[in-house]
Amino acid sequence: MIEVGIDGLCRFDGFERGVASLSEAALSAAAAAPSAGAGWARLPGEYKTGAVKSAARKIMSESEALVVVGAGGSYVGARAAVEYIRSPEYNLLASGSPRIFFAGGDMSAEHVERIVSLLSGRDFSVSVVSKSGSTIEPLVAFRIFFSLLEAKYGSEGAARRLYVTTGMNTTLDAFASERGCARFYIPDDVGGRFCVLTAAGLLPAAVAGCDVDAIMSGAREEMAAGERTAALYAAVRQALYASGKKIEILGCFEPSMRYLGEWWKQLFGESEGKDGKGIFPATAMFTADLHSLGQYIQQGERILMETFITADRPRSSLRVPGRRLFDDGLDAVSALELHAINLEASAAVRDAHIEGGVPVIELGVPELSAESFGALVYFFESACVMSSALSGVDPYGQPGVESYKQKLRARLSGAASLRRGVSSRCR
Ligand code: PA5
Repeated sequence: MIEVGIDGLCRFDGFERGVASLSEAALSAAAAAPSAGAGWARLPGEYKTGAVKSAARKIMSESEALVVVGAGGSYVGARAAVEYIRSPEYNLLASGSPRIFFAGGDMSAEHVERIVSLLSGRDFSVSVVSKSGSTIEPLVAFRIFFSLLEAKYGSEGAARRLYVTTGMNTTLDAFASERGCARFYIPDDVGGRFCVLTAAGLLPAAVAGCDVDAIMSGAREEMAAGERTAALYAAVRQALYASGKKIEILGCFEPSMRYLGEWWKQLFGESEGKDGKGIFPATAMFTADLHSLGQYIQQGERILMETFITADRPRSSLRVPGRRLFDDGLDAVSALELHAINLEASAAVRDAHIEGGVPVIELGVPELSAESFGALVYFFESACVMSSALSGVDPYGQPGVESYKQKLRARLSGAASLRRGVSSRCR
């Protein structure tokens, strides 16, 4: 389902020499990659969606809002699914399905407070996702939102409205079991950023009205298609990296893909950025960012490569009005579909950037749908594992993230002085 286009890249150093053999190497490197975290690859074939769908039906029948509490991989894939399959304006447009608020991905008091105020007067449920059950940001948010649930529905009512997705035998799991809450598990061999196709991503998606079976069937279709296209993508990025392209910008031409980009950034950043190596993943929303980052991309330091994702068929057939308002130079696009212009824009940006020395890889999906979302998730996960293997790093685990966590825990262990500090600042 995912198409990879690399036309126009042969002018870049080392490209022709490297890609064909790297592509083969990617396939064998993936086969030899550590299996400890490789459970994501069997999810499309094995994960059963029945319990997720029935939990979603219950939430939809009794709640006007769902608060999804989680950080990193425990939240960003879910948000990517909702925005890609439904829309970035889902909460404004939602009718007949609950609004979805994401918390626990940051420590912003005003963000949490805003969600709290948006819940006022609304029936709500909470889905907390943490594989380790020990990440500070979601645990802080969880205290806040579980306390709200208890205040509104009492202890038993709160437990009935709480959905816990975690690893086996975490303290969060023990809490959920003690309270008799609905529980879902992230298998041991599926890492946070690889868990979109478990309840972590699928439950919020189902509550937002996405067809989770279609997500899984899109992933299965991509799995069945074999890994050649993902291997090609992995090989091209590594060939370009070897020639000095240290930063990859994922350029999306649909705002619905913004959080897919955020998930991609996390997937590749945490998997590849190790041992002093790794392509730095960044995202851009086009055409908007052509009017900000565009200048740097065209003429700044030549350390960039780009990957564009576009959808062939639009979900909207909106056209530019045919009526001329003034001499606006738009006669050529009068009455054209906006999507057709967007595709032309992506081709024009590709040509300009390649001319400016920035290689552009093109990824195409037939349309924005639950199926293509599942396919993209599987495609990127495969490519990420192959690309990491090619550069000789273990894609699983994120030991570097621990440093900040330890430092934060150490600072918070002096909480008594912190409380004094806060209150003196408040006086
Ligand atoms: O990919 C990962 O494993 C991480 O990004 C985690 O998803 C993130 O740190 C949150 O961890 P947890 O789910 O244990 O709360």
